[in-house]
Amino acid sequence: MKAIELTAPSLTAFRQTELREPQVGPGEVLVRLRAATLNFIDLAVATGVYPVPTFPLIPVADGAGEVVALGDGVDNVARGDRVIPHFRPHWQGGLVTARNAAPMRGLTLPGSLAEYVAVPADSLVPVPAHLDFIQGAALPIAATTAWNAVRSAQVRPGSVVVLLGTGGVSIFALQFAKASGATVIIASSSDDKLERARQLGADHLINYRAAPAWDEEVLKLTGGQGADLVVETVGEVTFARSLNAAAMGGTVFTVGFVSGAAASVNLMPIIVKSLRVVGNNTGSVADLADAARAIAAHRIVPVIDRVFDIDDTRAAYAELNAGGRHFGKLAIAH
Ligand SMILES: NC(=O)c1ccc[n+]([C@@H]2O[C@H](COP(=O)([O-])OP(=O)(O)OC[C@H]3O[C@@H](n4cnc5c(N)ncnc54)[C@H](OP(=O)(O)O)[C@@H]3O)[C@@H](O)[C@H]2O)c1
Repeated sequence: MKAIELTAPSLTAFRQTELREPQVGPGEVLVRLRAATLNFIDLAVATGVYPVPTFPLIPVADGAGEVVALGDGVDNVARGDRVIPHFRPHWQGGLVTARNAAPMRGLTLPGSLAEYVAVPADSLVPVPAHLDFIQGAALPIAATTAWNAVRSAQVRPGSVVVLLGTGGVSIFALQFAKASGATVIIASSSDDKLERARQLGADHLINYRAAPAWDEEVLKLTGGQGADLVVETVGEVTFARSLNAAAMGGTVFTVGFVSGAAASVNLMPIIVKSLRVVGNNTGSVADLADAARAIAAHRIVPVIDRVFDIDDTRAAYAELNAGGRHFGKLAIAH
């Protein structure tokens, strides 16, 4: 089968190759992959920021495709089903553990830049009927994380949600928050992107370049109350402001480190406002299934900024590495 391998932690170390088609074992399914989408973790692997034990590897955690063969004992899917293989196939549900988190597609298990992958049948989630393979491939990491954020804070009509930037997680969080009836305040470096966010339902727009004290803007917009949920995708440079922007009893859902992870923390806002600072490491197969059901129920269409051909994998990574050019997700089709 055709595949792309990453031979070293370098953005120039992609090579096209021919590999033996994987064989399915008992309980496994062979999936003909059709699409992949990039996440920050893929970039971290390809730049050496996230250490990986062995190279070469087939990169990219997220993907979607079609079932083409079934191993013994598989009865939950059929040939021809459109499926999303979860990137952590052993994390079925419940809390993350060292055991269920370690085996990860695109790191220690084959990722999505190959024609075929053999995965456990119980790690598959159906592609929502209204989505194509590329849109389906956007769900595992970004949509699941955004779904967990909105669910963690019990977002409902009247809730105020603050989103930082217009990357994959923030845009899914915008879509889930609006579907839940919340008021959404979103901050971006770009007025054009803010306009696109408005078209997706964002209620209040803040350009964080023009208004670096965006937390004070949030307080003004909410009559001094603050936000019930801040989805913290940026990390080091925003964390203190996220604590300031949160309402009494609010949730700062802490997932990202786009700007670095070494934030210094003033505990007083956490203590005085009884904040919930909730860490999250992606989500389980059950979380992805819930997110996909919510996407189906609300007819949410993932926002794909650009689709690269698999032969242009290097360009796709370069686009993500450029930082802040895309809106929503970057995809690779094959
Ligand atoms: N722990 C988890 O569960 C989990 C899961 C998924 C992702 N993540 C992490 O979450 C982060 C975001 O992921 P992603 O896939 O959404 O990334 P992404 O698509 O690359 O988006 C990053 C966005 O951050 C925004 N940004 C950068 N600096 C900012 C600042 N100072 N203030 C506000 N926004 C800023 C930019 O938005 P503009 O261009 O609009 O300015 C940029 O587009 C990454 O660190 C990723 O590793 C964690």
